[in-house]
Amino acid sequence: MTKTGKAHETELDRVLDRNRRDRGRLVQILREAQAIEGWIPPETVTAIAQGLGMAIGEVESTLEFYSFFYRRPRGDYVVLFSDNITDRMLGNQAIFEHMARRFGVARGEVSPDGLVSLDFTSCTGLCDQGPAILVNGIAIPKMTLRRADQIHDLIRSKVPVSDWPKDLFEIDHNIRRADMLLGSDFMPGSALKAAIAMGPEAFLTEVKRSNLRGRGGAGFTTGVKWEAAKKAQADERFIVCNADEGEPGTFKDRVLLQFYPERVFEGMALAGFVTGARHGLVYLRGEYLYLLAPLEEKLAELRAGRLLGRAIQGVEGFDFDIEIHMGAGAYICGEETALIESLEGKAGRPRIRPPFPVVCGYRNKPTVVNNVETLCKVTEIALQGGAGYEGFGTKQSTGTKILSVSGDCERPGIYEYPFGVRVGQVLDDCGARSPKAVQISGPAGTCLGIREFGRRIAFEDVPTAGAFMVFGEHRDMFAVAHNFAHFFAHESCGFCTPCRVGTAIQAKIMDKIAAGHATQYEMNELQHLHDVMRTGSHCGLGQTAGGAIADTIGKFRDDYEQKLARKDFEPAFDLDAALARARAVTGRDDADSHMLDHA
Ligand SMILES: Cc1cc2nc3c(=O)[nH]c(=O)nc-3n(C[C@H](O)[C@H](O)[C@H](O)COP(=O)(O)O)c2cc1C
Ligand code: SF4
Repeated sequence: MTKTGKAHETELDRVLDRNRRDRGRLVQILREAQAIEGWIPPETVTAIAQGLGMAIGEVESTLEFYSFFYRRPRGDYVVLFSDNITDRMLGNQAIFEHMARRFGVARGEVSPDGLVSLDFTSCTGLCDQGPAILVNGIAIPKMTLRRADQIHDLIRSKVPVSDWPKDLFEIDHNIRRADMLLGSDFMPGSALKAAIAMGPEAFLTEVKRSNLRGRGGAGFTTGVKWEAAKKAQADERFIVCNADEGEPGTFKDRVLLQFYPERVFEGMALAGFVTGARHGLVYLRGEYLYLLAPLEEKLAELRAGRLLGRAIQGVEGFDFDIEIHMGAGAYICGEETALIESLEGKAGRPRIRPPFPVVCGYRNKPTVVNNVETLCKVTEIALQGGAGYEGFGTKQSTGTKILSVSGDCERPGIYEYPFGVRVGQVLDDCGARSPKAVQISGPAGTCLGIREFGRRIAFEDVPTAGAFMVFGEHRDMFAVAHNFAHFFAHESCGFCTPCRVGTAIQAKIMDKIAAGHATQYEMNELQHLHDVMRTGSHCGLGQTAGGAIADTIGKFRDDYEQKLARKDFEPAFDLDAALARARAVTGRDDADSHMLDHA
């Protein structure tokens, strides 16, 4: 129901006040403002701009960027279907169509009575218990036709989502193999106590000695990162926990945040202890909204126990507190500089580096950005010392790695292994029968075929941020890469041309192959696009956007060629011959003046 102008204004004022009228909190303000009406009307944009002393265009530039902000009215119930390839393999399309039929509403539309809108969204991080949906931002796993009918009836009866049966929202941790981190008990405060006893310098030495490398994908050495932030000249520093976890197929950070939050927060406090930062920020992906309230509760509990706040554990001068920022549906915000832009209330476009965040990050201050899992690992190092930690894994990849296993296997879920584990071992443990391929580290990662199952999960062999998607022998690897191509086209931030245009063309070519209209020419074009994006893109998204396609063409060529209209490309006209006149006019006939010589 639409609020009256006055009531709307009052609520918006409250939103602005709650956010200290801080333009840096614009993403949070827009999120809360949208909750008033379910969308953001132009008057709200104007009022926010006035309230924050910003130009309307500045507010709009942020608003336009994020998938979860709506500029047109949506249904009272917004239902979004997760559309990772694993959701597809579990039948999300049929359930979507069933629901769309029952509501009489098409994809991306609002039902005529304004009750419901239906659409797809990128992976929601529930691949081990999909297909998943979000209803008004809250996740529901394990969708079936029966569940779809139940949800249909609840919506038709206008039952508020908060009153829906609790079992619909139950999310399992599915921890199948626990090791150093997941298998050990943790007493909140114990890691801080150990680090305080050592002192910040000695503890930093332990972190460096452990050779801990970041678990967010790039594998940068954590101790070196912390040291750089500590040494940077500044009056203020920040610790950011990257909980954006948008890489399709990755869900281990969700499990850590839900079941091991005290480890995550204590890891942040330890980073604060070493670097001298007093402020921590968690960037929580919008899809994990259901984790916000329990995480806030945990923060309150830790403050009450003097594990956060002023004079932590009674140590004068050791002040550190944490606040949570929500994302709003943009995969690129996992890239650390895009994340910082988003934290500052802007569109999440990656910054030009250098300067690196450790020198000039959030609000231009030295900022450490660490992945959720990395921060948990730091608590282990405080408790065991760097040398103890170093003994696990391989020389270049110490410790353990948590994998998010999904796809064609009997036991999808969370597996923690010492680095160096063979891919084949993971496949055996998760009950993958007759696997054809594994996509490691999500669409941005590597696709391994059966001959490569002896390779090892480690930075020096197959690095991964955590995703491990299994594809059985009956799967069409073209369909897998097709899904990834659309993911990248949707998620490209548009800042640089190779990625903005490349990902769009790539998706179109994949559509053309799927429709049976392509030839060898398009296959060559895909390889060419991959090269252009890999070498010319500004950030990791564009640089990796063609990787899965190149891998699957190389390893599963048949899956593509079966769909080609013709294998050989015959151009419609002879371009070299057409240039003969130009050659004659310019008096050239050297190799560079001929097209064919460059082919
Ligand atoms: C497109 C893109 C998406 C990323 N998404 C994430 C993410 O969701 N979570 C994460 O921790 N790191 C992500 N990263 C890596 C971060 O930029 C950064 O390296 C990481 O957060 C650093 O933490 P770490 O050193 O603990 O790994 C992403 C990078 C790129 C290029
Ligand atoms: S590579 Fe893509 S995501 Fe990265 S900055 Fe360029 S357009 Fe944006």
